[in-house]
Amino acid sequence: MVKEKQIPFQTAKVPFTLVIFGASGSLAKLKLFPALYELVKEKRLTKEYKIVGYARTPMSNEAFRNFFADAIRSQDSAVDEKTLKDILKNVFYFSGAYDQKEDYERFKKELKKIEKSSSRIRAAYFSVPPTVFPDIFQNLSKTNFNTPKATLRLVTEKPFGSDLKSAKKLKKSLDVNFKSDQIFLLDHYLGKEAVSNLLSLRYANSILTSLLSSEYIANIQISALESKDIEGRANYFDHVGTIQDMIQSHLLQMLAYFTMYAPKEKTAKAIHHEKARVLKGLSIKDPHHAVIRGQYQGYKQEKNIPKDSQTETYAALKLSLKHGLWKKVPIYIRSGKSLKTKWTGVVVEFKPRRAQRQTPGLPPNRIVIQIQPYEKIEFHLLTKLGGKTFDFHELTTGRPIYCSGDCLVEHGRLFLDVLENRQDLFLNFEEIFEAWRVIDPVQKACNLMKEDHCQLFSYTKGSLGPKTADDLLKKDGFKWFNPEA
Ligand code: BG6
Repeated sequence: MVKEKQIPFQTAKVPFTLVIFGASGSLAKLKLFPALYELVKEKRLTKEYKIVGYARTPMSNEAFRNFFADAIRSQDSAVDEKTLKDILKNVFYFSGAYDQKEDYERFKKELKKIEKSSSRIRAAYFSVPPTVFPDIFQNLSKTNFNTPKATLRLVTEKPFGSDLKSAKKLKKSLDVNFKSDQIFLLDHYLGKEAVSNLLSLRYANSILTSLLSSEYIANIQISALESKDIEGRANYFDHVGTIQDMIQSHLLQMLAYFTMYAPKEKTAKAIHHEKARVLKGLSIKDPHHAVIRGQYQGYKQEKNIPKDSQTETYAALKLSLKHGLWKKVPIYIRSGKSLKTKWTGVVVEFKPRRAQRQTPGLPPNRIVIQIQPYEKIEFHLLTKLGGKTFDFHELTTGRPIYCSGDCLVEHGRLFLDVLENRQDLFLNFEEIFEAWRVIDPVQKACNLMKEDHCQLFSYTKGSLGPKTADDLLKKDGFKWFNPEA
């Protein structure tokens, strides 16, 4: 047995101030606070850190600390109260407007009182709607939050814009105020070990490297099924829908990791380059027929959702990829809310062999790389039925892939990278533009709102989405692989 290599756990022992804009929002509560708690508990950070919430709502430090503590306690039944108490000593709140320069001046003075030393990283985390970004960028720049001693880094989360044009505008508003190495464009799926493992598994195993190409593969399916509904995020979700919220970002990133060539060097630049290259070859032929949109029943009755909302809570798409390895291999991707189960994974279906061609109904060979609820790889093979027959039945063999080594939750891992100035697991604008180039025609087709072109199929909560999504594959002689719930 090969002895497992002991890698040093990633730490970032540099003093920092994390300023969270929109600190009372759900991103901060559900993802950032728990990630920070884990980092402190595991001693991955320096003792000299401050976490400062900035938002419009007036709130005292004490009230914000309670909000922080409640967020941790509601997610962890065995909270280490000592760690939490230590963190809370470093938590502060400042109330200000996003578009008032004077408020940033006041804030800066306040920070100086809070920060013990001026030599540090100042990370500004955007947990606010993208419409507010430009005001914050400008004011941070005008009031010189970046100083020779305090390096300012900005972390913004997807979606980056709402189409190619707005993404370019976002880049411009960043470029006029900051240098590109100050900007961290975050897609939390890249912080999932299982997602970057998609590339590693393919390249580290000749079994996979030699089989995964158009010579043997009939199609690739990528699914991110969610059992949760929109969880009260109406004001955000109804403006974006599943195509922007999940497909343009998370699913295209998974697709890129699964189909790209291995980067020549282990640098962020080389990784971004290969991802952008594969996305460049991606397209949706005939978006009117290659995209199925759905909405779960009851969506329009949810709080703050307009009664005539046409926002999709489900989408399935067929894509083509111009690529040496994947010539003519159709790619199907789908994601949706309020479905039967939470399941994320990549499925490769092999072309039929004689056994399958001679016996209709026999399942194809498949490799299933499950990402959520836990990482697993499965081989779906055919094996002989016992007795004097030439009949077959399906044999599924596989095992979980446990994260071994340095395992952290997505936002924790990515925040350490921000502090350490590592961009490998972040995006660059070239990839983002390519992803919008793929998605824009879909949005345009829908914006024309010709009912028949942009139909919204309703589906029952707890199902696997609209039936029409099955036809997308049926036309090509395929079926979705559905996990057993
Ligand atoms: C977020 C989306 O980016 O990802 C949410 O905004 C979605 O709508 C979430 O629920 C899914 O993330 P995960 O890690 O639970 O698969």
